[in-house]
Amino acid sequence: MLIVNSVDHLQNALADVVSEGKSIGFIPTMGALHAGHISLVEKSVTENDYTVVSVFVNPTQFNNPIDLEKYPRDLEKDAKLLRQSGCDLIFAPSKEIIYTEEELQQPFEFDFGGLDQVMEGKFRPGHFNGVVQIVSKLFRLVKPQKAYFGEKDFQQLSIIHRMTELMDFDVQVVDCPIIREKSGLALSSRNERLTPKQRNIAAGISKVLFECRNFVPSFSPEKLKQWVENEINQIQGLELEYFEIANIKTLQPATSWEEPTVGCIAVYCGDVRLIDNIRCS
Ligand code: PAF
Repeated sequence: MLIVNSVDHLQNALADVVSEGKSIGFIPTMGALHAGHISLVEKSVTENDYTVVSVFVNPTQFNNPIDLEKYPRDLEKDAKLLRQSGCDLIFAPSKEIIYTEEELQQPFEFDFGGLDQVMEGKFRPGHFNGVVQIVSKLFRLVKPQKAYFGEKDFQQLSIIHRMTELMDFDVQVVDCPIIREKSGLALSSRNERLTPKQRNIAAGISKVLFECRNFVPSFSPEKLKQWVENEINQIQGLELEYFEIANIKTLQPATSWEEPTVGCIAVYCGDVRLIDNIRCS
């Protein structure tokens, strides 16, 4: 497995891969890898000749400087996991390699078609601009045939699909299921920042989400939203930011179960912000 930090080294390595007619699978990450990331890598390894993983904590997608500063970073540990899972190349650039000073100062513009006006977009202004900025750059550098993303970041995945279409990338975006701990807690790099007690408390999020599906279709989407809000608010140690039942295509609030819907939630457990989601109809 190669570890490269510069664009030249990346492109030299990939030129050889392409000249051998090999297909490239790509997983963009911010490191602090867990079994969820590894499941994406393993899927890529089975579906492609060569798997590239980027490890880059992208500053332009953080709207909270403390969150950026506290984001866990351990390239050595990540590299060990990636080596075991069959990854061929890690691209781990510095922020100076990726961005010019100007790009770091000026917000990136993208037409989200309304997908960014709700849920994460509402609470993390500018976040998805940063995500599209980095993923589009990485797609241009790596030129993969397939790229793998987890459904835990449901809204991000919708936006990546839109970006791929609008920017005309010849990349198949592969949606991969949420991986959960035994307790039901969705795997996330941020879980590392939870104390053991908080981890137990945070497991309450998925319990509520799983239970809420029992009330479909007897409750209306609006009533179910209130039920979930109420249940989460009753768990000491959790602070709800939002729960929305959204149409899976438009991400706008659903008004009926005739639509395909997903329930998306963001909750603080202490100062750790966790997100999760569940298909409702
Ligand atoms: O999902 C993430 O970890 C990040 O948003 C991504 C896609 C790697 C872009 O920085």
